Order: sequence, then C-alpha cells, then structure tokens
Amino acid sequence: MKKTLIFATALSFLACAAFTASAIASDKGPADMTLESTIDAASKPKPAVFPHAKHQETLECAECHHGKDADGKQAAYTEGMKVEKCESCHNKAAGMPAKLDTFKAVAHANCKGCHKATGKKELTSCKACHK
Ligand code: HEC
Ligand code: HEC
Ligand code: HEC
Ligand code: HEC
Repeated sequence: MKKTLIFATALSFLACAAFTASAIASDKGPADMTLESTIDAASKPKPAVFPHAKHQETLECAECHHGKDADGKQAAYTEGMKVEKCESCHNKAAGMPAKLDTFKAVAHANCKGCHKATGKKELTSCKACHK
C-alpha cells in the first residue's frame, strides 16, 4: 500500500516535471510583434513590424537570439534558455561597444543584414519594416 503511494507520487512528480520542461521549451514568444525602443526611447519613434512566427518557420532561434556570459561576452543560444529583449543588453548604459549599444544598431545589423543577404531589394527598403 505504502509502496503504491510512493510510486504514484513519484509518477505525478515526473509528469509534472515533464510538463514544466515542455512548457519552457515551447515558449516561442508572440507570433507578430511591433518593435520599438523603450529603454533609450527615441523622441521620434520608428516602430518596426516583425512577423516572428513566419521567421521561426525557416530560421533557427540562434540566428537572432543569444545571451551574455559572466565575462560579458556573447553566449550562444541554447534550447530552452530564457529569451530576453534585445534592448535589455543593447542599451547605452550596459557597457556595450558603441556599434552595439542601441536597439536600432543591433536590429539593423541582424534584421537588415540578413535581408540584404537575400538579394531581394523589397526586403531592405525602410518600408519593409517601418510601415
Ligand atoms: C529572425 C529573428 C528571430 C528568430 C529566428 C527567432 N526570434 Fe524570438 N524574437 C526575435 C525578436 C527581435 C524578439 C523581440 C525582442 C525584443 O522585444 O527586444 C523576439 C522575442 C522572442 C520572445 C519573447 C521575449 C520577451 O521577453 O519579450 C521569445 C520567448 C522568443 N523570441 C523565442 C524564440 C524562439 C524559441 C525561437 C526559435 C524557435 C525564436 N524566438 C526565433 C527574433 C527572432
Ligand atoms: C543577455 C544579453 C543579450 C541579449 C538579450 C541580446 N544580446 Fe546581442 N549581444 C550580446 C553580447 C554580450 C554581444 C557581444 C558584444 C561584444 O562584442 O562585445 C552581442 C552581440 C550582438 C551583435 C553583434 C555580433 C553578432 O552576433 O553579429 C548583434 C548583431 C546582436 N548582438 C543582436 C542582438 C539582437 C537582435 C538581440 C535580440 C533578438 C540581442 N542581440 C539580444 C548580448 C545580448
Ligand atoms: C536570418 C535571416 C533574417 C533575419 C535575421 C530577419 N529576417 Fe525578416 N525576413 C527574412 C526573409 C528571408 C524574409 C522573406 C520571407 C518570405 O517572403 O517568405 C523576411 C521577411 C520579413 C518581413 C516581411 C516583408 C514583406 O513585406 O513581406 C518583415 C516585416 C521582416 N522580415 C522583418 C524583420 C525584422 C524586423 C527582423 C529583425 C528583428 C528580421 N526580419 C530579421 C529573413 C530574415
Ligand atoms: C529589416 C527590417 C528593417 C529595415 C529594412 C529598416 N529598419 Fe530601421 N529598425 C528596425 C528595427 C527592428 C528597429 C529597432 C526597433 C525600433 O525602434 O523600431 C529599427 C530602428 C530604427 C530607428 C530608431 C527608432 C527608435 O525608436 O529608436 C530608426 C531611426 C530607423 N530604424 C530608421 C530606418 C531607416 C531610415 C531605414 C531605411 C534606410 C530602416 N530603418 C530600415 C528594422 C528595420
């Protein structure tokens, strides 16, 4: 009787842990977003539209997401890691190199950089992202 109870408790614990793990792994963030600086807010904001889910269909998360290690260096994206907002690291007060200290700079490097590499002009025009 006691054994059965322990077994059942262990099972429900395992089920719970598995559920939590899959809930973390499947946090893909919003399907569509409007990106805008909030920490170093611009006097004339220029919001950018971003179809997140559409990009996730063809790209690895690591193409855009990464973290920071204890030495302040870039840490590669790992499955299930906590995804933070770009600007939480890339802002004026975070001690980043000058070319990487604004949301605009890293967004243009990442987003526009890849769009440019596709060779499709319509993807690099300002209006592609800033409607
Ligand atoms: C093409 C680039 C790109 C790809 C690929 C991508 N993301 Fe994102 N993701 C972003 C950007 C940009 C944001 C918004 C960050 C911000 O607000 O500063 C974001 C936001 C998120 C957020 C919400 C973070 C928050 O706190 O607001 C989560 C969670 C997330 N992404 C998970 C994923 C996962 C998981 C994958 C892979 C399956 C993925 N993303 C693929 C660019 C990308
Ligand atoms: C947890 C902190 C952190 C977050 C969040 C973060 N970054 Fe970074 N990022 C870094 C660090 C650290 C570096 C390396 C800086 C250096 O070279 O000194 C870096 C470098 C970069 C670079 C230049 C090097 C390269 O890989 O091309 C780009 C572009 C970049 N980040 C874009 C982004 C984008 C876009 C987001 C949001 C989707 C983002 N970062 C979110 C910490 C972060
Ligand atoms: C690694 C490559 C890559 C990165 C990084 C990337 N994109 Fe894209 N993006 C694409 C490709 C490829 C398409 C075209 C997809 C299609 O037409 O099916 C696209 C399409 C789009 C579109 C739709 C354009 C239209 O008019 O149909 C928008 C908006 C967009 N991206 C915004 C962004 C933003 C904002 C970021 C950065 C947060 C970003 N993208 C980062 C590859 C990328
Ligand atoms: C591939 C997508 C993409 C393209 C193309 C693009 N941008 Fe951006 N831009 C962004 C993202 C993402 C941000 C950061 C979020 C925000 O503040 O809008 C940004 C930020 C900015 C900002 C800062 C706004 C602020 O609130 O701090 C300005 C100004 C800007 N872009 C101008 C331009 C101009 C001018 C062009 C055309 C020459 C252009 N961008 C093309 C994605 C793009």
